[in-house]
Amino acid sequence: MNPEEFRARFPILTRRVYVNSCSQGALSIDVDAAVRAYMDSWHEAGSPWERWVEQVEVLRGRFAASIGADPAEIAVMASASAGINAVASALDFSGQRSHVVLGDFEFPTMAQIWLAQERRGATIRRASAPADSPDTLPLASYDAVIDERTLIVPATHVCFRNGHQTDVAGLVRLAHGRGAYVMLDDYQRTGSGPIDVHALGVDFMVTGCLKYLLAAAGIGFLYVRRDLIERFEPTITGWFGRINPFAFRIDALDWPEGANRFESGTPPVPNAYAALAALDLLDRIGSDAIGRQVAHLTGHFARAAREAGFVVRTPLEPDRRGPLVVVESVDAPALVERLASRGIIASCRASGLRVAFHAYNTDGDVDAVVGALQAEASLLVRADRVLRD
Ligand SMILES: Cc1ncc(COP(=O)(O)O)c(C=O)c1O
Repeated sequence: MNPEEFRARFPILTRRVYVNSCSQGALSIDVDAAVRAYMDSWHEAGSPWERWVEQVEVLRGRFAASIGADPAEIAVMASASAGINAVASALDFSGQRSHVVLGDFEFPTMAQIWLAQERRGATIRRASAPADSPDTLPLASYDAVIDERTLIVPATHVCFRNGHQTDVAGLVRLAHGRGAYVMLDDYQRTGSGPIDVHALGVDFMVTGCLKYLLAAAGIGFLYVRRDLIERFEPTITGWFGRINPFAFRIDALDWPEGANRFESGTPPVPNAYAALAALDLLDRIGSDAIGRQVAHLTGHFARAAREAGFVVRTPLEPDRRGPLVVVESVDAPALVERLASRGIIASCRASGLRVAFHAYNTDGDVDAVVGALQAEASLLVRADRVLRD
C-alpha cells in the first residue's frame, strides 16, 4: 500500500486537515469494519468468548512483532496506566535501591503513579530540563541524578507537550551502567515509525492504541524484557494474570512464565478487534514507509513554521523529534478553535499548539496549516519578539 492508498482508508481526510494523531488517530474504514464485526459476533453468537479471547492472543502476537518483541513479553492491558501500575506494584522499595528518576517531560499519569509509590517507600528524584533550554532534556540531566540508589527510570520517548524525543539508547546505557531499570513510555511514538525494543534494550515499555496506532481507547500494552519477567509478582493482579484463568482458583496464586502475569481482569475485547484491524492496516503500508513520511512532514512543517517567524518548541534535529511539532501561541485554545473553523483539527497543551503527523498526512496538509497560522498570526508568538524580550 502506498501513502495515497493508505490515506484513502480514512474518510475524515476528505473533509478535514487532520493533524491530531497525538490525541486520537483518525478512524479508518478498516477499524470501523472491525468494530462492526465484533458487534456482529455478539449479535450472532451471543457469547463467543473463545473466539474473543483468541482475538486478544492474535493481537498480542501482532503487536509483539510490530515492536520486535516476543508474544510472551507482552501484556495486553486496558491502558498504559494499568501497565505502569502493575510494574510499580511488583517493585520493592525497601532495599538500597528505592529511587525513581522522573524526567520533566513525563505524561502526568507516569509521574502520578510513581509519586503514589512514595507511600510504599519510593523516593522521587527529578531529571530537570536546563533553565536556559526548557524544551530539551539532555542525558546530562539524567546523569546528575541516576546513581546506585536508583531502582527505575521511567522515561517518555516523545514528550506530549513539546514533541522532544529522548535519546533512549543513551539513557538505557547510562541507567544500566548504574544498575537501574528503564521503563519507556512510547505512547507518543508507537505507530509513527519503526521501533525495536530488543535493540533499544529497555526493560519495560508501555503504550496504547488511540494515537498513532490508529485504534480506540481502552487498550494498552506492557512490554517486559524476557529475562526479567519471572523476577516480578505484581500485587495489582487478577484472574487473567493466572496460568489458567478458567481454573477459577480461590485458594492460591500462580504466575505464568510470560508477561501476561501483569494482566488482571477480563481483556478489552472490542478494543482488541479495533487494534488488530489498525495493526493490519499499518502493516500494509509498513513502519519504515510511515517513519519516512512522518520525518519528512515534521521536518517540512517545523522549517516552514520557523521561516514564517513562529516559535517552534520542538527540536529541529531529526533524531530529537518524533511525529509531533509544537508551536508557541499566546492563546492556544483560541488558536485550536480558529483552526477548527478553517477545517483543521489540531490540539494544544498549555501555550503550545500541537501539530501531529501520520503517514496519512501530506505536504498539502503542511501548507494548509502553515497558511492558517499565517492568517491567525495574532495568536502566535513571534520568534523576533522572543529574541528582543
Ligand atoms: C505519553 C503518554 N503516556 C500515557 C498516556 C495515557 O495513557 P493511558 O490513558 O492509556 O493510561 C498518554 C496520553 O494520553 C500519553 O500521551
